[in-house]
Order: sequence, then structure tokens, then C-alpha cells
Amino acid sequence: MLGAYRKTRWALSVAERNLAAVTADLPGSPRGHSAARTLARLWPYVRPVRARLATAAVIAVLASCVGLVVPLVLKAIVDGPVADHDPGGVWLGALGLLLLGITEAVLFGFRRWLVARPLAGVEAELRRDLFGRLQRLPTSFHDRWASGQLLSRATTDLMMLRMFLAFPLTFLLVNGVTIVVGVAILVIQDWGLGLLLLVPVAPLIPLCTYFERRYSTAARQAQDQIGDVTTLVEESVLGIRVVKGFGRHRSQARVFRARAKELRATELRKAHLLAWIWGVITTLPELAIVAALVLGTVRVADGDLSAGTLVAFLSTALALRWPVESIGFLLAMCQEAAAAAERYFEVMDERPEQDVPLPAPEARAEPRPGAADGLRFHGVGFRFPDAAPDAPPLLDGVDLHVRPGETVALVGATGCGKTTLTHLVPRLYELSAGRITLDGEDITAMPRERLRSRVAVAFEEPTLFSASIAENVLMGAGPGAGAEDLARALDVAQAGFVRDLPHAEHTEVGEQGLSLSGGQRQRLALARAVVGTPPFLVLDDPLSALDVATEAAVEAALRRVLEGTTALVVAHRPSTVQLADRVALLSGGRITAVGTHHQLLRENAEYAWLMSGAERALEGQA
Ligand SMILES: Nc1ncnc2c1ncn2[C@@H]1O[C@H](COP(=O)(O)OP(=O)(O)OP(=O)(O)O)[C@@H](O)[C@H]1O
Ligand SMILES: [Mg+2]
Repeated sequence: MLGAYRKTRWALSVAERNLAAVTADLPGSPRGHSAARTLARLWPYVRPVRARLATAAVIAVLASCVGLVVPLVLKAIVDGPVADHDPGGVWLGALGLLLLGITEAVLFGFRRWLVARPLAGVEAELRRDLFGRLQRLPTSFHDRWASGQLLSRATTDLMMLRMFLAFPLTFLLVNGVTIVVGVAILVIQDWGLGLLLLVPVAPLIPLCTYFERRYSTAARQAQDQIGDVTTLVEESVLGIRVVKGFGRHRSQARVFRARAKELRATELRKAHLLAWIWGVITTLPELAIVAALVLGTVRVADGDLSAGTLVAFLSTALALRWPVESIGFLLAMCQEAAAAAERYFEVMDERPEQDVPLPAPEARAEPRPGAADGLRFHGVGFRFPDAAPDAPPLLDGVDLHVRPGETVALVGATGCGKTTLTHLVPRLYELSAGRITLDGEDITAMPRERLRSRVAVAFEEPTLFSASIAENVLMGAGPGAGAEDLARALDVAQAGFVRDLPHAEHTEVGEQGLSLSGGQRQRLALARAVVGTPPFLVLDDPLSALDVATEAAVEAALRRVLEGTTALVVAHRPSTVQLADRVALLSGGRITAVGTHHQLLRENAEYAWLMSGAERALEGQA
């Protein structure tokens, strides 16, 4: 089932991407012009360090221009001491050159020092915001997005943005200024030769524009493919047991190779484009320099140009080679950064969960908010945002009242929407219709933080984080909770096994720690749900992985907790149902029967069938 989702999601993302690639190729499409605009969105992050960046840029311009003085000193040496056979003067000139070189190096080093720290700060800020946003985006967002895509955005793309701020941003400016100053020096020295060097600029402009457009498409595609590869690696690492258990490592490797090959093809296309533009950018000025050399030599021979001027002219032209040549890959880096920024802001532009107070609910005969009224579902409807448009809603008019202090078991066939219904209470998904109230107060009118502090949940798949057991459990409590609460919660969940672990409750668990058994994890998740003594408790089949003896012990302890709480407990087994005061049967998207276990067993055929295990027996035959 999950595989099918993933596949449709994958197919959709491929389709989207192809569409993006096609539209980007269309002339005049917004993407062609938007690289600068996308990058401009980084300004709020760069603003705080703008002074340093500007200083660094000025220093880099200075350093670069110091480099341009070298040819002028050369000219002075050639036309002066060399022509006059004055060794002392040559030494002095050489000393001057050495000083210039040292100055240039020191200035560039200073620039690096100036920008390194603030840019690391900018990257950290971008990453922090992205992480914060990921935490606040609704569950439905995470259903749609592959985790590897998010991971690669938080790593590779942010690195590209930092590199962009460190190099291309500064050096496009620095090299631009250097080229202008250099060309001015050339034209002043000899305008004829200078203009000759400018001839290649004309064809370079349209060529660079064409290159940028092609490269930006390829860059975006490559970064998306990195995301896909990341997803694949992540899934196969997390699912390594399944991969090994079913001997799937070969087919996984095959899939990986296919994706890696796609990425390689895209990277090669980028390399081809870059090689091509680099070739053109290098060759054209080189040809112009050769032409200038020939013409200049002829003119020196004719005596209407001094040898020193020619030396200075050519060495200035040669000094300009690097600024000109680098433009190709600086543009490439800009395009990559634009793609990275685009991917970054795609996530940042998603709407986070918001506390929007609903219009005042129409007056109804219901208790004043605040009075004990328990948990009520009023005509609750829900459909997944990504469900097929013609599919009927999963939940359609669920009406249920869990009275204060009461425990209601929710029973229904597998896949009928029980888990989904439990997710609606802490607003992990938003209702499509109807209302849910806690003590008469609409959950959509409550700040999420308060809602979630009143409702505690334990999910079907107990997730533990890479942290100690104590930290994992206390996650369910307010800031003031301590060792006593922890001990009580562990006691309720019958998690006595914790005492036998190497460091008791300080043992590290989760991905980087000790791996616990399914039943042990389930008991910790249960402890996490009850540690904060929440007034409302939603448990999704909390005892499914326990053996009969442990289940009975947990039930006995849980019964004590449930006494004071209003609880909705999803149950599959008769033994869990026994915990509840009443049972509600979810079928066809609504509650079709409510009553005690024995009542429903007698009166409701579907319930009797579910509880008799007939369903499981049928599944076994299928
Ligand atoms: N993100 C999603 N988009 C579309 N459909 C989904 C999504 N998540 C779950 N579903 C579908 O919603 C239905 C209800 O799922 P749910 O997990 O609520 O069932 P359940 O009653 O808890 O089943 P079980 O008893 O097996 O735990 C399933 O058919 C499932 O495939
Ligand atoms: Mg479920």
C-alpha cells in the first residue's frame, strides 16, 4: 500500500519535473529571468552581514586591481632601467613587483577571513529556518514529500547557497570591475589594440545567455535527482532488515544504479555545457590576443609603439584572462545556486500549520466551553488531500461522544479509518467537515500548543528518538516533569524492563542506540502518552505487540490511569476492548453502533464477526 503511494508520488514528481524542464526551455518562460529574482530572496539572510560582504568585495576589487598595476611596473622597468642598462633600477623594480604580489595575496587572504565566519552564520540561519519550517509543516505536507528531497535541500542545496555567497556573488562583481579597469588601461595605452581585444565580447553575450538557460535546467534536474538518490539511500538503510530478509539487495542495488546513472547523465550534460562555454570564452579572447600580438610586434618594428608599452599591453591582457575565463563557471555556479534557492524556497513557501480562529460556531444547545463535556465528534468528515477526486471520503459523518472520565474503545475493520480518526484529535490532519470539541471547545479554535498539551497520543508505530529513555518518555510531559513522573509513567506502562538495561532510564535508544523489542517500544510510547497526566488520551492500539501476561499487567495499571481521563482507545483485540466502558464501531466512514462490549456482541453482527477473529481467519485464507 505504502509502496503504491510512494510510486504514484514518484511518478508525479517525475511528471512535474519534466514539465518544469519543458517550460524552462520555452523562450520567455518566467524561469529564464528568475535566477536573479530567486537569488534576491536570500537578501533577508544576507542583510545582517552586508557590511562585511561589501567590505570584502571592495578589498577583492582592490586586490584584483593591484594585480593590474604589475604590467604598468613592468612597462616602466622595460622602458626605463632595461633600456638604460641599469641593474640597480631593475632590482628596485623587481622589489616593487614583489611588494605588489605580497599585497595582493594579503588582501585576498583578508577577504577570505572577512567572509568565512558570517557566511557560515548565514548558512546556519538558512538551515535553522528550514528545519523549523519542516517541523511546523502539516502532516499532509510530509505525506507528499519524500524525505530524501527534504534532506538534500537541507544539505547539498544550502552548501551551494553558501558557496554562491562566498564566490560567484563577489567575484562576478570583482571580475567585472577588473575587466572594466583592465580594458580602460588597455585602451588608454593604445586604443587601436585595446578595441581589437574588445571584438570577441559581441558574440560572447548571446552565447552566455544561451548557456545560462540550458545550464539552469540541467542544474535543477541534477539537484532533484540528488534528492531522489538520497531518498533511496535513506529508505534502504532504514529498511535494511526487509531488504536483507527478502534477499532484495540486488534489486535495490539495481534501482540505485539506475537512479545514479540518471544523475550521472545529468552531471555529464552539465559538464559538457560548461566545457563548451569555457572553451568559447577562452578561445575567442585568446585569438584576439594573438591578433594584438602580431599587430603590436609589427608596430614596434615600425617604431610607432614602444617595447615597454607592448609588454605592458600584453601582460595586462594576460592578467585579464583569468577574470574573463572564470565567468563561465561563475555563471554556472550562479545557476546552481538559483536552482538551490528555488528548491529551498519551495519548502519555505509551503503554508505551516496556523492557528486561524474559525468564525464563531452557530449557537447550539451545548455546554459552555470549559465545563466538563468530554470529547465530542460532530458529523466529522475527512478525506486525504491526495486521495483520488472521485473516491468517497474516508470518514463521513462521524458522531461520537466520549463522556468526561469515560474510556471508549474504537473498533473497526482494518483500513476503515480508525488511525486517521485518532490523528484528527490533535490536529495532525485537518477535518474536511464537522467539528471536534474538547469540553465543549472547538479544537480548531484552540491554539495548537494548548490542544496538544491537553491531548496525549500513542501511535500504532511507536517512534523513539535517538536519546535516552528518560528523554523519550518525558517528551510527553511539560517542562516541570521530573524523575517521579517518569517512574510513575514507566510503572503504568509496566516498563520494568528499563531497570535491567545497562544504564537504566539513561540508556540511549532509537536509531543510534539500543534497539528495543516491539513490545518494549510500545510500552515506552504508552509511558510517554501518560507521563503528563493529560485530561484527554488517544491511544492507537497501544497493547497490540504485548504478550498476554504483560498485556494484562499493563491493562491493570492503565485502568487506574484511565479512571481519571477521557480516553479514546483503538482496539483490535477483545482484551483491549475490556478496558473500555463503552465500545464504538466504525464502519463505512461513520459510527454505526455504540454500546458495551457484551451488548454489541449480542446485537451487532459486524462487531461479533470482528471480535470472533473471523476477519483474521478470512485474511489467512486469502
Ligand atoms: N496519506 C494518505 N493518503 C491517502 N490515503 C491514505 C493516506 N494514509 C492512509 N490512507 C488510507 O486511509 C485508509 C484508512 O487508514 P487508517 O490507517 O486510518 O486505517 P485503520 O482503521 O487504522 O487500519 P488498521 O486497523 O489496519 O490500523 C486506508 O485505506 C489507507 O490506505
Ligand atoms: Mg490503524
